[in-house]
Amino acid sequence: MEPAIFVTGGAGFIGSNFIQTWLEESQVPVITVDKGTYAAGSNNLAGLAAAGRLRFVAGDIADRGLMRELLGEHRPAAVINFAAETHVDRSILFPEEFVQANVMGTFNLLDEVRQYWKGLPSADKDGFRFLQVSTDEVYGSLPLDEPPCGESKVPAPNSPYAASKAAADQFVRAFNQTYGLPTQIARCCNNYGPYQHPEKLIPLMIHKALREEPLPIYGDGKQIRDWLYVSDHCAALRSVIEWGRAGELYNISARAERTNMEVVSAICALLDEMYPRKSGSYRELIAHVADRPGHDRRYALDSSKLEGELGWRAEESFESGLEKTVRWYLTNIEWVAAVADGGAYRDWMAVNYERRSR
Ligand code: TYD
Repeated sequence: MEPAIFVTGGAGFIGSNFIQTWLEESQVPVITVDKGTYAAGSNNLAGLAAAGRLRFVAGDIADRGLMRELLGEHRPAAVINFAAETHVDRSILFPEEFVQANVMGTFNLLDEVRQYWKGLPSADKDGFRFLQVSTDEVYGSLPLDEPPCGESKVPAPNSPYAASKAAADQFVRAFNQTYGLPTQIARCCNNYGPYQHPEKLIPLMIHKALREEPLPIYGDGKQIRDWLYVSDHCAALRSVIEWGRAGELYNISARAERTNMEVVSAICALLDEMYPRKSGSYRELIAHVADRPGHDRRYALDSSKLEGELGWRAEESFESGLEKTVRWYLTNIEWVAAVADGGAYRDWMAVNYERRSR
């Protein structure tokens, strides 16, 4: 059997989608470690471990002893780091948790991977990859009249979340420059799709609409995000690990810029069709609430480097991906309920939304 890949944060939204699609496409087994925070779905990987090509380990990337043990035992050919705190609004209220998880966690993991990689036979050293899963948010807000940003744009993070991811990226780069560790960074735009935690815009709006609750739009709702269906992101990451160059940074986007109002209106239109209300449209639930402090107006990425070098193309348009997503949430109401009925979710709703009512 080929050497495994080591995936951190495998029970989260993008990590679990990545593992699922990886195991569909490849014979290479996966070892995953996940801390099991509120954002980790208990059944996101259900069934996969039973198939025998996935080993799940409960643990934290900041636990150096555990990282050393797992790397030594499984001798992976690649490490993909998805483990992170990811919600901007939480980072505004609890910034230190983001420094611990995203900066210290990534540093500890990198340093253990460096020791492991140093001991590999030279034939395996060059082909090894450490892929850091990053975000467009590190670039900061893009003016409306500027073209989508390429990899040469200097990061200017505005939220504690974005700052923590930018800091982690700098360590990943430094480990490549200083120690020669074959690292890569992938910066993707906003993702959506199955298993996304309902604290994030798209699943939050679907969930609230189905419960006939107000749909909270921060500020004027004209903020722009660039959206990518999660399986397209996963395919891009597979290309980067398999064919991407070491020491490189790749932006990932399908150029689907939409305002938040457009996104929420599109969700309402799909729900009106697939799961109509007794009377009227879900649009009537839209409610503008107090804005997020430091709210970035626009993110947009240029992924021509990835497309040109590695031939990646997104398969889903925003419309087809959103339809699949709404359908998934309609047929997996129990998955969402398991998250949303928990005390942690209710506490978060109270902390984040009660202070916004205006
Ligand atoms: P989010 O899903 O939190 O992702 P990010 O902030 O990382 O882009 O939010 C996407 C956009 O939706 C962002 O502009 C904030 C906005 N938003 C709302 O208007 N209302 C909400 O309740 C949430 C969670 C987000």
